[in-house]
Amino acid sequence: MNSQQPVRVLVAGATGTLGRALIPVLSNRGREVVALARPASQGRLESLSGHIKEVVTAEVTEPDIPASIFEGVHSVISSIGITRQRDGLSYDDVDFGGNLNLLRAAEQSGVQRFVYVSVVGVDQEVNVPGLKAKRRFEEVLVDSTLEWQIVRPSGFFTDIADFLAMARRGTVHLFGNGRSRISPIHPTDLSEAIVDRLEAKPRTIVSVGGPADFTWDEIAELCCRVTGRRCRIRHWPESLLQLALAITRVLSRPTYGTLSFLVHVMTSDTTARNYGSRGLEAFLKAQQEADQQVHTD
Ligand SMILES: NC(=O)c1ccc[n+]([C@@H]2O[C@H](COP(=O)([O-])OP(=O)(O)OC[C@H]3O[C@@H](n4cnc5c(N)ncnc54)[C@H](OP(=O)(O)O)[C@@H]3O)[C@@H](O)[C@H]2O)c1
Repeated sequence: MNSQQPVRVLVAGATGTLGRALIPVLSNRGREVVALARPASQGRLESLSGHIKEVVTAEVTEPDIPASIFEGVHSVISSIGITRQRDGLSYDDVDFGGNLNLLRAAEQSGVQRFVYVSVVGVDQEVNVPGLKAKRRFEEVLVDSTLEWQIVRPSGFFTDIADFLAMARRGTVHLFGNGRSRISPIHPTDLSEAIVDRLEAKPRTIVSVGGPADFTWDEIAELCCRVTGRRCRIRHWPESLLQLALAITRVLSRPTYGTLSFLVHVMTSDTTARNYGSRGLEAFLKAQQEADQQVHTD
């Protein structure tokens, strides 16, 4: 490769929360960005076009990903995964199968490095489909001949914003006793940590959280404070959650998948190495102002 040429990086999951944060960070740090999107989702990349060299499309859950999408690509970063069930596919189909297809195609196309965005706590032997699928993919990746990197983030600020919306409605619902801890991170800080991995020693696993750890009670109290309204915090006991899990497991696998992940995250510690500078309170205040603006317009 000509040393003057920018390194070409393919972002898979480019249309998601993290993918969209990664693209400007990569381009501002001198990388040439190829954004991989599903054909139906590529419109979400329009506002980022100034940071993207090329948009390529493929369905990663289908075999035979075209080799042409990897032309000149040095590194792949994959943030492909199910966070909100939309299209009837399972975690095994997407978090495991989609990433596996992408890895195999990258291996055959001369890509050198594969950075996989997993999740903190994935190595715990818990019966959570989303974690199991990610764990299975990690197991395959560490046997790959590529220079792999695994990043295991804690929760994103953007997901914490859901609790702000609850606070505005008057009640923040928490699963469990509210004492489990988490290290939420801004997607841009996480993106900086991920881009660092492009040049880090290969074959390493890092967990990445934001600059501060919180209990879920502290997060709920912060959300209430930011809204400036009185609101209450409701704790759903674990016995009730176990019953809900047993019922949804029989009646609706997608609901079970989402619920089991949320119960896991809110009833066990999911802290990670502290990183970044963007604070949760400032993010939530900005979110609150933006949401109020929408309501007054
Ligand atoms: N959000 C969090 O708090 C958090 C915390 C830790 C780890 N993570 C993990 O980090 C990764 C990125 O999270 P995120 O919040 O950015 O997720 P997101 O906003 O839901 O984005 C997920 C990405 O995966 C793609 N995807 C989903 N289903 C697909 C399918 N069937 N075929 C091809 N692509 C598909 C989406 O494409 P479309 O736009 O076409 O749907 C999107 O680009 C996920 O693996 C997530 O589990 C998230």
